[in-house]
Amino acid sequence: MGKDTEIEFMDRMLSLGLARVSEAAAIAAAKLIGRGDEKAADQAAVDAMRTQLNLLEIKGTVVIGEGERDEAPMLYIGEEVGSGEGPEVDIALDPLEGTTLTAKAMPNALAVIAMAPRNTMLHAPDVYMDKLAIGPGYPDGMIDLDMSPTERIQTFAKHKGSPPEHVTVCILERPRHAELISEVRATGASIKLITDGDVAGVMHCAEPDITGIDMYMGSGGAPEGVLAAAALKCMGGQIQGRLLFRNDDERNRASKAGITDFDAKYSRDEMVSADVIFAATGVTDGSILRGARRIGGWLETETLLMRSRTGSVRRMIYRQNNH
Ligand code: FBP
Repeated sequence: MGKDTEIEFMDRMLSLGLARVSEAAAIAAAKLIGRGDEKAADQAAVDAMRTQLNLLEIKGTVVIGEGERDEAPMLYIGEEVGSGEGPEVDIALDPLEGTTLTAKAMPNALAVIAMAPRNTMLHAPDVYMDKLAIGPGYPDGMIDLDMSPTERIQTFAKHKGSPPEHVTVCILERPRHAELISEVRATGASIKLITDGDVAGVMHCAEPDITGIDMYMGSGGAPEGVLAAAALKCMGGQIQGRLLFRNDDERNRASKAGITDFDAKYSRDEMVSADVIFAATGVTDGSILRGARRIGGWLETETLLMRSRTGSVRRMIYRQNNH
C-alpha cells in the first residue's frame, strides 16, 4: 500500500470512528430527554463523547470545546484527546448542542463533532458571533454580513427567482433580535423562529427543499458558528461570521485564542480552511435528523457523517440492543 493510500484508508476508518463518537454522546443524552435537567444531559453527553473520542487513533487537540480549562473539567479547549497515536488533528465539538431543547424534549438537539488537520479551524472564543448563512447553488459572496437584512433578502430573492414572500429566514428568538425580526418581516419574508440550536438552524439552509429554510441570520455562540461552518463546508452553502464582544473579558478571551483583528469578518473557508470530517447525531427529533429512540428491543440513532474533500454525505442508522 502506498503512503497516500494508507492515509486515505486511515481517514476512512477515522470518519466512521467520528460517527461512533457523536452516536455515543446522543445515546447518553437521550436518556435525559424531557427530564428538565440541562446540566445532567450535558454531562452525560460530555462523558460519553470523551470516552469514545479517546479511543480514536489520533493526536487530537480540542479547539472548540466545553469551555476554557478553568471552567470545564472535560473536553476543555486545549485538552489532548485520542490515543496519542496517529494524525495530528484539531477537534471541534459540542456533545449536546441544545441542552434546553433536550431538557424540554423540544426538536433539533444534536451531538456534534468535527475533525480537521491541525491549525485549520478558527479557535473561536466563547463569545457571540453574528452569523449569516445560505444554502448551496448561489454565487460566492452574493450576500454579505455588511448588507442590511433588507438588502440580503432582496438580493437572495432576486437570485432565487422568487418574491421576498417566498423566502424563509431562520432566527433565534431572543430579545436582542427584536429589530432584526421586524426588519425581516417588513420585507415580506417569513421567519422560522427557533428557541435554541443554531448549528441545526444553519444546517437547515443546506437542505431548503426538506426544511423550507433559505437563510439563517442573527447572533449566537461563536463556537457553534465554527461547527456550522464545518457542516456547510461538507453540505454546500455559505456562512459568514463576525465575533461580537460585550466587554473586555470577552476581548481577552479572543486575544488568548490568538485573535488579533476583533472586527474580522470570517468566511466559511476562513473558519474551516482545510478538509474536515463532520458528524452529527440527532438527540431529539428534528427536521434534519431523527432523534435517538427506542424501537422494540433496540435503541436507534440517526447520524449525518460528512466529509468536505469528497463531498460525501452519509445518513447512518445505528441500532444497539437495548438491554
Ligand atoms: P447550549 O446547548 O449550550 O444550551 O446552546 C444552545 C444555543 O442555542 C446555541 O445553539 C446558540 O449558539 C446559543 O445557545 C445562543 O446563546 P444564547 O442562548 O445566549 O442566545
